Amino acid sequence: MCGIFGVSGSSVASGATVLKGLKALEYRGYDSWGVAVRTARNDVFICKDVGKISQVHCDFPDGVEAFGHSRWATHGGVTKANAHPHVVGGVTLIHNGICENYRELKEKYPTTYASETDTEVMASLLAAHFATGKTPEECMMQMAKEVEGRYAVLAFFEGRPGICAARKGSPLIIGRGEHETYIASDIPAFLPYTKNVNYLDDNEMVRVVGAEVEFLNLQSGKAIDKRTIAVPWEAEDATKGDHPHFMIKEIREQKSTIASAINQSNDKLKAAAKMMKEAKGVYAIACGTANKAAMAGEYFFANIAGRKVNVVPASEMSSFLQFVREGTLLLAVSQSGETADVMEVLEIGKNKGAKILAMTNVESSSMARMADVHLPLQTGPEKAVASTKAATAQMAILFLLAYADAGRVNEGRELLSATAGAINDMLNPRFEERIEAISKKLAKHENMFIIGRNTLYPMALEASIKIQEVSYVHAQGFAAGELKHGPIALITEGAPVLVLGDDPETLSNAMEVKSRGAWVIGVSCIHSEVFDEWIRVPDCDEAQCISTVIPVQILSYHMAVERGLDPDQPRNLAKSVTVK
Ligand code: AGP
Ligand code: GLU
Repeated sequence: MCGIFGVSGSSVASGATVLKGLKALEYRGYDSWGVAVRTARNDVFICKDVGKISQVHCDFPDGVEAFGHSRWATHGGVTKANAHPHVVGGVTLIHNGICENYRELKEKYPTTYASETDTEVMASLLAAHFATGKTPEECMMQMAKEVEGRYAVLAFFEGRPGICAARKGSPLIIGRGEHETYIASDIPAFLPYTKNVNYLDDNEMVRVVGAEVEFLNLQSGKAIDKRTIAVPWEAEDATKGDHPHFMIKEIREQKSTIASAINQSNDKLKAAAKMMKEAKGVYAIACGTANKAAMAGEYFFANIAGRKVNVVPASEMSSFLQFVREGTLLLAVSQSGETADVMEVLEIGKNKGAKILAMTNVESSSMARMADVHLPLQTGPEKAVASTKAATAQMAILFLLAYADAGRVNEGRELLSATAGAINDMLNPRFEERIEAISKKLAKHENMFIIGRNTLYPMALEASIKIQEVSYVHAQGFAAGELKHGPIALITEGAPVLVLGDDPETLSNAMEVKSRGAWVIGVSCIHSEVFDEWIRVPDCDEAQCISTVIPVQILSYHMAVERGLDPDQPRNLAKSVTVK
């Protein structure tokens, strides 16, 4: 759960290039950072510190190769000593992931440890084997034998030109330049330089020296042939453009992303619908916001196709894994396609003979590549930690799939095209200003509640994640009918309650809280006198939840800005959660 970026090739291997690449990956983790530059004379210069990359001041020498890391600490506090790279003996190492057996390895490979990280233990292991005369490749193979856990690592070995990289469970992508090669955890890091990529798979390693690239199996050491693929992204897709933050840029992009998301190939949709039909039980596996999108999907499948989909947060699957067997369908919903909790369930399920249907935004992701069928979200890179356009794309695709499952795919497409059009109209500056005005008042509160029913219930839960993660306000979502079973005791004079929807039951629930002094903000198609404030959303029929969640995304964004926070990089979080 961090950003890794490396480059080999003397013309571009500067500290500045690495910092620029890391900056593009900062969304993956941002508590500390570090860069190593190797000069033509084989000296390694290291600069590292805590804090954000924008605050960096280092005088880097000219290099022939360089790499850097932005950390999201798992083992050891956020200190300069714990920031990567870690150097032991002749090895300089950066690492994304977790070495689970680091305690045992620490005893086996004693050294004067300078940090509390699991990563330094891996560096010590590599250095010990390197000192016995093993080649860098052999050292990496030895590491793969001994280390338990997930990792993507980049290393310099003293006196051996090039960068060695290996992957098991954490992403690494190779960017092919004309005279140089890039290695990164995600494509935006090298998008300004090249669109030609190779995807490193699990249990593979690569050695790059300038433009020379050699792929090897991490277990056998045998050479592997890799296909070079041109990615369709433009460099501008991964920049903020004129928008103050990625989060608001990505919210606004929903003017067009629903339409791109539903532009799925008919063959793939058919294959996915066939999998749903033939499945012996369907489990939708996801985390956080993607889990809330999957919950909306649960309603779609029930309401539209009469199918029961079991939605379980990936981290809660252990008790239910006994029901996953040959013929079970695991429906993986994820923006990044790398989330460790989801990956673990998929790996276990696959071994048991389950089929995998994945929906991810990153087409090169681990989930996309292990799936039997993959439906890409097609929204372009999502960089803000808060998931917005990916979430609505996930819901749109689940909606379409429910219609395909019911044998009425064209009807589903029409409804979604109308929804996409209505969202395009809704997202205008006046709409945002109205929401901004409400968010200014809401930002003064420390607690708030959100209620919704049917597909708007998961949106109430999603709203609470959005508000919590970017504005740090304690927001809690409830099924509208559940409030009276306990939580209503929390309602006091002036307590903000966001009411999603305008069906009679939800309006009665709104009235119940209003009678107890709540300040009621409605997000609905039709106005009601119970609302003290009203945000009007277009009528999108069964796809209502897709348009209703968007103003709440805008609300959470402005609440964060109003509270002086950076919505793109909330504290303690990272975009891709590749640790358990
Ligand atoms: C969303 O706003 C959150 N930051 C988070 O809940 C996220 O949705 C979750 O970590 C899952 O990520 P994924 O979609 O990449 O699997
Ligand atoms: N486990 C390592 C650490 O805590 C790497 C964490 C990361 O992926 O950023 O330093």
